[in-house]
Amino acid sequence: MNVDPAKLSLSNFLAGESRDPLQAPPSFTAWMQAGAWAVELYEPELLASADARTSIRYDGKSQSVINLCSYNYLGLANHPDVIAAAHEALNTHGLGACGSPMLSGMTDLHRELESRIAKFLGREDAMLFNSGFGGALGTISGLLRKSDVAVLDNRSHLSLRDGAVLSRCRTEKFEHNDAASLDAALSHKSGRRQLVILEGIYSMDGDFGKLMELSNVAESHGASIFVDEAHSVLGCGKQGRGAAEEFGVEDRVPLIYGTFSKGFGALGGFVAGSKETLQYLRFYAHPYVYSCALPPVVIAGLLKALEIAIRDGAALRKVLWENADYFHEKLGELGIDTGMSTTYVMPLVIGDRERMYRLGHELRRRGLWVAPVDYPAVPQNRICFRACVTAKHTRADLDEALNILADTLTPAVQETAHVS
Ligand SMILES: Cc1ncc(COP(=O)(O)O)c(C=O)c1O
Repeated sequence: MNVDPAKLSLSNFLAGESRDPLQAPPSFTAWMQAGAWAVELYEPELLASADARTSIRYDGKSQSVINLCSYNYLGLANHPDVIAAAHEALNTHGLGACGSPMLSGMTDLHRELESRIAKFLGREDAMLFNSGFGGALGTISGLLRKSDVAVLDNRSHLSLRDGAVLSRCRTEKFEHNDAASLDAALSHKSGRRQLVILEGIYSMDGDFGKLMELSNVAESHGASIFVDEAHSVLGCGKQGRGAAEEFGVEDRVPLIYGTFSKGFGALGGFVAGSKETLQYLRFYAHPYVYSCALPPVVIAGLLKALEIAIRDGAALRKVLWENADYFHEKLGELGIDTGMSTTYVMPLVIGDRERMYRLGHELRRRGLWVAPVDYPAVPQNRICFRACVTAKHTRADLDEALNILADTLTPAVQETAHVS
């Protein structure tokens, strides 16, 4: 390929170039080599827990960083009681579940977590998945059929889109959070079973799904609603039940899905709803039926995390949101574009790939850890860093992070404004 490597993206290497599908496209390997300095920012090695301050490997050495990269929103990943509970389960239940939940991987701890999640969310039943991605993919593909329609926001997470692809249903897309566009999308295939797939907080843009407005539109077409609460469960709503609780639409959302990898600080996914729907799904969600259950040690940690979230959640959420609001306000004063974000997930928009990677190195050198987000995960002109603020960050952590951003991003943003 005789194209400037800086103009290429992951979307350029999907065609099979060689006769052997096990061989990576040579053009991809060459592109990776040319951009090795940028690729170094990916798959960072965390050398300690995902706390507000931690250490990562950078330039071959341990580097202390302020962590705006982990989804440990309430700080439960490294809560001492969670760690103690996991230790205890390691002694009683060993390391792995050693089987799928359907045949052999279900323990008393799994059953307990199912019932406590169901009770927490006010649903009849809940089921657990060994990954959030598998949970979303398994739920969508387990329930939708060929003649159905998945109606997806154009910023939907890939796990939801892949679920629709796997189910071989028809898909319709609507403009992000746009009620008129959803209305038009639902009109295309009226007469079919349609499922509107929304998110509580969008993972790249950090804005809330407009659940009330979009539910109204879905209901006017007789369509059902599914809400992915991956980033919103425990972080939103008075009781921490997520964005559906926050916006008062829980009774209109029959099926709630979330992950344990973010607010809960662990791993896995869950879906909660009616007994009948979940009984059906237990037999048709492939990532549930054909994949090993979560390790009991993780389940025990999750049981404790849920207990703490129910007990201390309101206080933790207060700090989380105060931190998020403070960080938003100060980023605004620095002239940093955070797009549509109104939550603790925020893009720091750079808009130029080369500049983003150069700044990414500078930030790590100076001890600030944020995630690079490149096209096609976001549009070309929205290439950004993603920052996640947690309840564990102190004002000193946030102020230090802001000082680093003021020294690095603010001049870069001004440079862009000057050039354009
Ligand atoms: C909206 C959304 N759904 C699903 C997932 C998948 O969750 P997990 O990382 O727990 O597999 C993510 C992960 O980032 C997400 O942001």
